[in-house]
Amino acid sequence: MDKFVVQGGRKLNGRIKVSGAKNGSLALMPASLLAPGTYHLSNTPNLRDVWTMSRLLNSLGVFCELNGNDLFVDSTKVTSFEAPYEHVKKMRASFYVLGPLVARYGQARVSLPGGCAWGPRPVDLHLKGLEKLGAELSLESGYVVAKSSKLIGNKFHFDISSVGATGNVLMAATLAKGNTLLTNAATEPEITALARMLVQMGAKIDGIGTSQLEIEGVDELKPVNQETIPDRIEAATFLIAAAMTGGKIELTNVNPYHLTSVIAKLEEAGCEIDVNADKIMLEMSDKPNPIDLIATTYPGIPTDVQAQWTSLMLAANGTSKVTDTIYTDRFKHVPELIRLGADVEVVDNSAIIKGGKQLSGAIVMSSDLRAGAALVLAALIAEGTSEILRIYHIDRGYEDFEKKLTSIGASIKRVKTELI
Ligand code: EPZ
Repeated sequence: MDKFVVQGGRKLNGRIKVSGAKNGSLALMPASLLAPGTYHLSNTPNLRDVWTMSRLLNSLGVFCELNGNDLFVDSTKVTSFEAPYEHVKKMRASFYVLGPLVARYGQARVSLPGGCAWGPRPVDLHLKGLEKLGAELSLESGYVVAKSSKLIGNKFHFDISSVGATGNVLMAATLAKGNTLLTNAATEPEITALARMLVQMGAKIDGIGTSQLEIEGVDELKPVNQETIPDRIEAATFLIAAAMTGGKIELTNVNPYHLTSVIAKLEEAGCEIDVNADKIMLEMSDKPNPIDLIATTYPGIPTDVQAQWTSLMLAANGTSKVTDTIYTDRFKHVPELIRLGADVEVVDNSAIIKGGKQLSGAIVMSSDLRAGAALVLAALIAEGTSEILRIYHIDRGYEDFEKKLTSIGASIKRVKTELI
């Protein structure tokens, strides 16, 4: 397992090209199961979760080849309809293959995902939505077994706005007979991008970008080429990194429109920010103001940014509160931040941060990819040397993380370690 060794105390200054969105690619790749043929998914980030999804699709008979950031997929011959536990346990997004398989092939056997580091994450909305479309589902020794002669369009309301469940049910509905109305659907940009790809494939979807999606089922879809949208979470992570160190950063290949709430919050914290069509420029000349944050569904602050914001608030002179309304126990990074000398207390689904204390380097451990990123950010402002262990979590969702940070002045090295 690798670790990062970080020397704190450096200002970050420079330019970073943002990679394609991990959560964008993880939604587009399973869509290739809906129509046999070849797909070129450009701007695909070269990172662990994409490799995991590629291996899962390979096990179904789908050819996947990633050359740099160009992913070539050939789903002409799907030979299996089973997503085994060995894949799904590594990555919850593997569950996305359920909807397309049952819609296109009338059958699927997909392992239930394991709980994530921050607790169990149910899939009941995925299952209820597919059942509403007529899929017969049963649970057999940890697997969801799905059968359907033909899915039938219907109305379905998501009790909770769920990115994954919206993606799964939306993909299935495109090949159902008749019309489907999805209400309280997720509006995250990755879902909007998936819907746009499905329309390119011949699907009929109205309401794209809103929480009300109307789908008119079609008999078949066709393969397409599609560019993955920029990764808004990676972008937010680097903006926060520059802000914490009092630096200056220009992000290119980014969509500022996907980050309006994060940009507004960073301005509230005292950052000077300029944007144009595909760039965001940030400069921070002082310590950040202590600003409370509530993570919620899009277009609010993403839950995938709350840990990084907590690290930013460690640099603020004053007390702030970070609340996560999506995952109420996604605070595994807090005990590790405390090892760096932070004064943070978790109360219910909030972290109370007493900022302004000088952090000092320590050995800390990543528990999930955003927590790991937050620990690296905190190490950037800690005095002396920090080591961040189990960085395979970070490698799941960030392409060339340490190279990008080094390119803007951070002292961060990847070191191979024996298994621990
Ligand atoms: C997606 O996960 C993202 N992953 C997550 O990003 C992100 O944190 C999350 O959406 C929220 O934005 C991918 O896109 C691959 P949800 P997903 O279904 O789809 C509850 C990262 O860091 N829920 O939107 O699994 C659930 O417990 C990852 O890149 C149900 O109750 O999340 C949660 O409280 C981590 N039943 C809420 O909905 C269900 O059937 C939102 O979860 C499904 C979800």
